[in-house]
Amino acid sequence: MTNHRILLRSRPGGIPQPDNFVADSVPIRSPAAEDVLLETIFLSIDPAMRSWMTENPGYQQAVPLGTVMRGGGIARVMESRSEKFQPGELVQARLGWQTHPTLPARYLQKLDLTRGDALAWIGPLGLSGVTAYFGMRDIGAVKPGDRVLVSGAAGGVGQIAAQIARIEACHVTGIAGGPDKCAYLTNELSLDAVIDYKAEPDLSAAIGRSCPDGIDLYFDNVGGPTLDAALLHLRPEARVVLCGRISQVAADPPYGIRNLGNLLTRRARMQGFQVFSYHDRYEEARAWLAARHHENQLRQRLHILEGLHQAPGALGMLFRGENNGKLVIRAGNSDGA
Ligand SMILES: NC(=O)c1ccc[n+]([C@@H]2O[C@H](COP(=O)([O-])OP(=O)(O)OC[C@H]3O[C@@H](n4cnc5c(N)ncnc54)[C@H](OP(=O)(O)O)[C@@H]3O)[C@@H](O)[C@H]2O)c1
Repeated sequence: MTNHRILLRSRPGGIPQPDNFVADSVPIRSPAAEDVLLETIFLSIDPAMRSWMTENPGYQQAVPLGTVMRGGGIARVMESRSEKFQPGELVQARLGWQTHPTLPARYLQKLDLTRGDALAWIGPLGLSGVTAYFGMRDIGAVKPGDRVLVSGAAGGVGQIAAQIARIEACHVTGIAGGPDKCAYLTNELSLDAVIDYKAEPDLSAAIGRSCPDGIDLYFDNVGGPTLDAALLHLRPEARVVLCGRISQVAADPPYGIRNLGNLLTRRARMQGFQVFSYHDRYEEARAWLAARHHENQLRQRLHILEGLHQAPGALGMLFRGENNGKLVIRAGNSDGA
């Protein structure tokens, strides 16, 4: 049998392009003692992958050229030489962009299917849900009655962050690009207000109309001019959560933030975070997210592309806003998963 793989061929200048990658096929590696042979079902496509492709990601190791592209996902056990895993079980792991990885059992985490199926685990219970949980609750210290603004609100992290604020009885405004994404936020996720930033000539004025009393908590996924506009509307003691700055990844020169003075005058706090530093508390987040998911309070639109061959083109979609929800590759058969 064959393991189809996508290797990193070159480092990206701006937005990752399909020709930064190359496909190959190699024989499946038979598992040695304590190894497990897997069939990849879903791969998560994440903005952070672009930084892993560069020479100096700043955190984590760069992916070496000529090796399998790093990526996390869900797989089914095909053959196991570890007593901890049995054929047919579903696991999550850093699988890499390949259809049939053979990995040490210690790198695998068995999925608890009482919490949700494979789609739930790549969706709201996955790393974007966990990111939203710690960003909103730990960094943002969300509380009932907060006036909350979320950028990138129709994306993987943003959808969950906005819904967590809804669950906590906040007034929630989402910012997203385009009428379809905004209609989804209003009609399916029941946000109180939405702003289509692509249709707004003056984003600050639009925020002022949607949040006339200001913002207690801004959850920022995009950075740049959106962050700058939000800073103008902070209420006293506001919290600004720096989750991501996707608008600045390919910006040259980067946008210079002008309105930091409002942090001082509003006695506000702005803090970044990285979900990986919460590794020891993932279980807490997943228990909370799974409970809300079961109560139908938490959902996530997925944008699923069929086939591993789509992965090289998929990554750039995130930076052009072409994904309609959390972006996922279905690499293998998910029947019964
Ligand atoms: N801190 C952490 O530990 C952590 C963990 C995971 C993710 N993140 C960050 O969270 C953010 C969201 O990640 P995700 O995986 O959920 O991706 P996503 O939101 O599903 O996809 C990215 C979205 O960003 C928006 N976007 C792209 N370029 C933009 C621009 N120039 N201005 C405004 N919006 C732009 C697009 O939405 P529109 O169509 O609405 O423009 C696009 O759909 C990213 O910044 C990511 O780096 C951080």
